[in-house]
Amino acid sequence: MARNKRKAVADREKIKGIRKNARRRWRNKKAIEKALQNVVDAAKPPNEEEDSPKVGELPGEPVEKPQSLPSDVTRVPTLKKIRSTEIVRSDKFLGYGTFGSCYLVHFRGYLVTVKEFKVRKNISLNKIKKEVRNEAAMIIHLGDHRCLPLLFGVVTRRERFRLVTQFHVEKNKSLTLSRAMWKAELSKQSWLLILKRIIDGLSHIHKRAILHNDLKTNNVVLEKRKGELELNPVIIDFGKARFISDPKSLMSLPVAKQCAYRKNYPHIAPEIVSGEGMQSILSDIFSFGKIALDVLDLLPTATAKSIKAARRACC
Ligand SMILES: Nc1ncnc2c1ncn2[C@@H]1O[C@H](COP(=O)(O)OP(=O)(O)O)[C@@H](O)[C@H]1O
Ligand SMILES: [Mg+2]
Repeated sequence: MARNKRKAVADREKIKGIRKNARRRWRNKKAIEKALQNVVDAAKPPNEEEDSPKVGELPGEPVEKPQSLPSDVTRVPTLKKIRSTEIVRSDKFLGYGTFGSCYLVHFRGYLVTVKEFKVRKNISLNKIKKEVRNEAAMIIHLGDHRCLPLLFGVVTRRERFRLVTQFHVEKNKSLTLSRAMWKAELSKQSWLLILKRIIDGLSHIHKRAILHNDLKTNNVVLEKRKGELELNPVIIDFGKARFISDPKSLMSLPVAKQCAYRKNYPHIAPEIVSGEGMQSILSDIFSFGKIALDVLDLLPTATAKSIKAARRACC
């Protein structure tokens, strides 16, 4: 805060509070940067030049623990590097999204999913490499949960950057929630269980101090697990995920562009699009709300109908 402004604030306690909060935010930011850097460093091949510790830098230095993160979030997880020669491509294409295309591949005798990151115009290869590592780092920080992906590792050598995860399968296919809503005829009970489990998964993500930031029906896949009757939802695509304490800076779009953005990305909370609010637990819950409304619309229940009517009234 500028010195002249500071003088104007009579309440010393208030200034103290502002300073304390600023210090806490700075410490959090640094600890997160360090934790992510450690994951990224762990992923580098040993013969890469940057891998050797710099002068005055201790390898495996303990990471400062930020206040708003759970105790084990900043432990340095290891990110497994996979050699590209271990990956044998099958013809099966699973789907594509904003950042990459997904294929089914063979890896050490397992059928797994590979997300191949697109090389994009005006984006350096280093930045794309960082995106792959960050997405992997987020998945590692999330730990284990039945509604979250299982990471095998990353391929970050050469220009084909890839993220290798478990293939979540339903009848030999990848079935997104959005496709299931068109095709699958599930009972009301099954749909409600899917919603409940997505809530469980999202709640776990938030407990791990992470925001998904891109929750939509295309980023949930349904899998059939051995010995289980109901389909299990798995939240995928952590490409936009960030720590709760480190949201993206405020958006500033001209009003005309805000309308187009809302149309293209209806799952993004309105306060983010208007630039009045940051990514938060609430904005993730807004995105979940969109999924819930779409699913409830499929069910011939009084609740769904009244929600639909209420939504029409609000628009
Ligand atoms: N682990 C997986 N199991 C099954 N299908 C998957 C898996 N990961 C991705 N897919 C399919 O690939 C599509 C794109 O993947 P996603 O991670 O969302 O990429 P993007 O970041 O480009 O949106 C998904 O919508 C889904 O159809
Ligand atoms: Mg996606």
